[in-house]
Amino acid sequence: MELWNVVFVCCVLCYSFCHTAEAIVKLRGNETIPALILFGDSIVDTGSNNNLITGLKCNFPPYGRDFEGGIPTGRFSNGKVPADFVAEELGIKEYIAPYTSPALQPGDLLRGVNFASGGTGYDPLTAQLVSVIPLSEQLEQFKEYIGKLKGNFGEAKTNFILSKSLVLVVSSSNDIANTYFATGVRKLNYDVPNYTDMLVQQASSFVKELYGLGARRIGVFGAPPLGCLPFVRALFGGLRRLCSEEINMASKLFNSKLSSELHKLNQSLPQAKVVYIHIYDSLLNIIQNPTKYGFEVADKGCCGTGTVEAAFLCNMLDPTTCSDDSKYVFWDSYHPTQKTYQILVGEILNKYTSNFS
Ligand SMILES: *[C@@H]1O[C@H](CO)[C@@H](O)[C@H](O)[C@H]1NC(C)=O
Ligand SMILES: *[C@@H]1O[C@H](CO)[C@@H](O)[C@H](O)[C@H]1NC(C)=O
Ligand SMILES: *[C@@H]1O[C@H](CO)[C@@H](O)[C@H](O)[C@H]1NC(C)=O
Repeated sequence: MELWNVVFVCCVLCYSFCHTAEAIVKLRGNETIPALILFGDSIVDTGSNNNLITGLKCNFPPYGRDFEGGIPTGRFSNGKVPADFVAEELGIKEYIAPYTSPALQPGDLLRGVNFASGGTGYDPLTAQLVSVIPLSEQLEQFKEYIGKLKGNFGEAKTNFILSKSLVLVVSSSNDIANTYFATGVRKLNYDVPNYTDMLVQQASSFVKELYGLGARRIGVFGAPPLGCLPFVRALFGGLRRLCSEEINMASKLFNSKLSSELHKLNQSLPQAKVVYIHIYDSLLNIIQNPTKYGFEVADKGCCGTGTVEAAFLCNMLDPTTCSDDSKYVFWDSYHPTQKTYQILVGEILNKYTSNFS
């Protein structure tokens, strides 16, 4: 190896071991989390869909209007998404780039990458319906990532990154809200009990695959109260645009099954910390008590009319977009605002970080 290579590798290694000073949330015994690796959908996507041919992207204004002075990066919000807040609060990095980003440098691999693709789900049909990256392909990209880590930093360092990183999986919203209820295609072959069984089976095999590849700290998000998403209220909530109790019940049923399956995996996979991350009640609480958190509007999004717009329907041509999104729980008809995400991530990290120690 040439000298500059040695120097480069040493600097990168030192950076990754030493640069952990700013962690806001700490693990027991001063343990740190070197990297954050994300799988799933638009809740954590930081721009994976930008170069895909799909209607499900948002790398244009007004998306990102509060991100670093107004950059539409492909994040499905007005600003940061949970991937950013988690990375920042754990002292890992300010932003975790999409794995497919052409700007990704070898040094970035040490702090983690983001495979999440807006619109995807546990049900393989979900990503297919909207031409985005399915979880199966995200897993293939993860294998490629592992190969690059080994190539650049060697076996030992790679195993360290894999076993100590926080791996988050955020999926199920598109399956339940879109594929099952909004399009109705899965209703032809499934009812809610056996559809949620299928989703949990998929989630479980996904976690086992991650474990097989070396991941040990694995957090899996439950479903939010999908019946209260603005577009779901518009479709199923009647004239008063109430939350759909049926869809909230489906979310809760999925969550209870997912939680018990993950608990089993946590017991059966040696050295693994498999954690179910419950977000349902935190978000419902904000939606039901918006003023407690400084919000004024919880039943529609800021973008456009707030009831149907998301992705290409939320664009600059719409003059009705709100001017002060800090009053809104939701940014578009589907996705929370940066402010809501920040509150949620704060609660999640307080509650769950110690589980990964
Ligand atoms: C953690 O770090 C603090 C200060 O750096 C030190 O006082 C403490 O002993 C450390 N704890 C462990 C368990 O290493
Ligand atoms: C799901 O349950 C319904 C009965 O409620 C049944 O008709 C259907 O075949 C089941 N689907 C699957 C895939 O098991
Ligand atoms: C996972 O299992 C470990 C024991 O292996 C236990 O200490 C921990 O509390 C479990 N975590 C969860 C979230 O169930």
